Amino acid sequence: MLGVNATKDIHARHFQADPQVFIAPGRVNLIGEHTDYSEGFVMPAAIDFATLAAITPRDDNQIAIYSENFAEKITFDLDFLPHHPRHHWSDYPVGVLTVLREAGIRVTGFNLTLNGDVPLGSGLSSSASVEVATALAILGLSPEEETGPQFTGPEIARICQRAENHFVGTQSGIMDQFISCCGAAGHALLLDCRDLSYKLAPIPGELSIVICNSMIKHSHAGGEYNTRRAEIEAGREIIRMHRPDVRFLRDVTVNDLDRWGNEMLPEILKRCRHVVTENDRTVAAAAALENHDLKSLGCLMAESHASYRDDFEASCREADILVDLASREPACIGARLTGGGFGGCTVNLVESADAPGFSDRLLENYRAATGISAEIYLCHAAAGAHRI
Ligand code: GLA
Repeated sequence: MLGVNATKDIHARHFQADPQVFIAPGRVNLIGEHTDYSEGFVMPAAIDFATLAAITPRDDNQIAIYSENFAEKITFDLDFLPHHPRHHWSDYPVGVLTVLREAGIRVTGFNLTLNGDVPLGSGLSSSASVEVATALAILGLSPEEETGPQFTGPEIARICQRAENHFVGTQSGIMDQFISCCGAAGHALLLDCRDLSYKLAPIPGELSIVICNSMIKHSHAGGEYNTRRAEIEAGREIIRMHRPDVRFLRDVTVNDLDRWGNEMLPEILKRCRHVVTENDRTVAAAAALENHDLKSLGCLMAESHASYRDDFEASCREADILVDLASREPACIGARLTGGGFGGCTVNLVESADAPGFSDRLLENYRAATGISAEIYLCHAAAGAHRI
C-alpha cells in the first residue's frame, strides 16, 4: 500500500503546506478486451496499486505539479496551459485540468503532488489512476465542492476519458477510468459500456488475483491501439451497409459476421470476430462468477486469450508463454493477457493456498523460457477512488 504520510511529507517538502490527499486505483481486467469503445461489456476489478494526489491551493495563477515517480516538477500559468500533448507525464494531469475547465469548473492556482505504485506501461491503467486522482484533487479544491460533490463517479470517469481522448490522443474507451472511479473492494464489476449500468460480482475469498508482468512495455498513444480501433470501425461500416440499425459492434452477432464478413478484408473480419465473441464471453463470465462456476470462468478466460492472440492479434510471444505456463498449473483457475495488449501483464485467478508456489514456479519457468525476469503482483480487488 502506498504511503499516505510519505506522500504528505513529499508534498510538504516541495510546497511547504499540509495537503488534502486523494487515491485512485489502477485496474486489472478479468475479461472483455477492446470491447468498451464498441459499447460492449467489460469485467475489470480495481486493484490495490494506485496513485495518490496531494493538493494545496496557491494564491497566484500558477499550477505546479510534482511527480514523485519521475522526480520532476513542472509549472504553468493557468492562462497559458499547453493546448497539445507534449508526450510527457504531465499530459495526463494537464489534460484533466483542461477538460474540467471546459466543463465549467473554476480553477485557481494549486500545487499538486502525484505519487503512484501502478507499474507504468504494463496494462494496469497507471494513466487512468493519475487522471482520476488528479480530477478528485482539483475538484476537492474547488469552491463549488463545498455544497457537495459536483460529479458522480461515472461523470468523473467520462471527464478523464475525454482528457485521454482529446488531449493525450489515445482513443481509449471508458473501462479504465470507470473502474478506477467505481470499483468495490473484493468485487469485479460487469460494466455495460452502452449505458454505464453495472453489476458487482464478489471474487471468491479462496481465489487470489496474481498479476504477472511480462516486462514487455506497451505504448498506446497514437500506436497499435488506435489502429485496432480504426479496424473495428471499418468492419462496423460494412455491417451497417446491410443493417443500418447497427451503431456499434455491440449490435452485431456472429451470424451477421458469417453472412457479410466475406466483404471485409480478412484481418478486419478477425478483429470484429474477437469483439463480437468477447462480448458474449464477458457476459457469460460474469454469470459464471456469480454462480461460483469457476470451471466455466476459467474456460472463458482461456478462450478470451486465444481470441485476443489469434483474431485480435494483440498478444505477444512472452504473454502467450506466461498464459501457457500458468494454464498447466492445477491451482490456476484462469489466465489471460489483460489490458490494451501488445505486452504488459497477464491476470491469473489462482487458488489462494497455492498462490505463492504458483508465483515462484511461473517466474522460474518464464525466465527459463525467455531469459526475462518477470514481476509478480499479488493483488486484491480494491475500492474506487476517494478522499483519504
Ligand atoms: C486500454 C483502454 C481501455 C480498453 C482496453 C482494452 O486499457 O484504455 O479503454 O479499451 O485498453 O480492453
